Amino acid sequence: VKPLKVAVLGCGSVGSQVVRLLREQAGDLTARVGAPVELVGVAVRRLEVTREVEVPEHLLTTDAHALVTREDVDLVVEVIGGIEPARGLILAALESGASVVTANKALLAEDGPTLFEAAAKAGRDLYYEAAVAGAIPILRPLRESLAGDRVTRVLGIVNGTTNFILDKMDTTGAGFSESLTEAQDLGYAEADPTADVEGFDAAAKAAILASLAFHTRVTASDVHREGITEVSAADVASAADMGCVVKLLAICELREGPDGEEAVSARVHPAMIPASHPLASVREAYNAVFVESEAAGQLMFYGPGAGGAPTASAVLGDLVTIARNRLAGARGAGESAYTQRPVLPMGETRTRY
Ligand code: HSE
Repeated sequence: VKPLKVAVLGCGSVGSQVVRLLREQAGDLTARVGAPVELVGVAVRRLEVTREVEVPEHLLTTDAHALVTREDVDLVVEVIGGIEPARGLILAALESGASVVTANKALLAEDGPTLFEAAAKAGRDLYYEAAVAGAIPILRPLRESLAGDRVTRVLGIVNGTTNFILDKMDTTGAGFSESLTEAQDLGYAEADPTADVEGFDAAAKAAILASLAFHTRVTASDVHREGITEVSAADVASAADMGCVVKLLAICELREGPDGEEAVSARVHPAMIPASHPLASVREAYNAVFVESEAAGQLMFYGPGAGGAPTASAVLGDLVTIARNRLAGARGAGESAYTQRPVLPMGETRTRY
């Protein structure tokens, strides 16, 4: 059987774990896919740096464009992050006939439809389970398992870095900056941690969740956003005195619009929640997502929300799915058909948790 040739873009905390798993689990992956999975190149910004894992020199290149447009590459894993050059490279990969796995929440939340349309036009798969909540399978359940139900609300902790910081402030009384440095050292934070602490990362994830849950296109700029930089040690301590914890929540809901029509609201902000609430026990860089739907009722998804290996687990899951699709000469479900609903500005009504 023809091997599936894989190129990886980026070798940071997630990319290096993807490379490690691809090499260490080559035998298992081959068995699960039904064809050998072969890593053929890793694009990096600089060749001479110390990496978290060993990458054979002959696989490394600084020419990402040449790598993704190689005729023999079947699948490109994009874990560079950010808008450009990631967008250009994904589009070039799809045009050249490769399928794509990406963990790029910022890009999907800003310009997802351009990528989905390019994938549909090329007849190729574009999967992105790793973009939201790290290792937790949440996007495929929303897109596939719950596609026959009517999701009314998605509520969760979707940023590991801020949860780690708030948890440290609450349990050890540690300060904001030392907790952030620890989260960075553990590989949880974005390259620019402003994206985490100002809520941009959670807002991008809320946009992706709302789009899939409500079959409506929601972009990051539609999401009301407030980060945790204004949350002080004193705020965390007084919340504790009241039997509460402070968490950065992403809240996506179906609501009634101004003219009585069905509309969508998405917001990210710190919230005080009672210590007895299940979300209060989400510690360190863990994430949790509650989904409420008409027929299924309440569902909860919980697990490691950030970090190299957990995120790489979601990437590899997508890779296996795409490989199986390709072997069957098929394409995955693709994006759902959208029924665009109005997206509301920050609602007046307070949410009851
Ligand atoms: N910086 C992100 C977080 C990584 O802390 O959740 C996972 O998307």
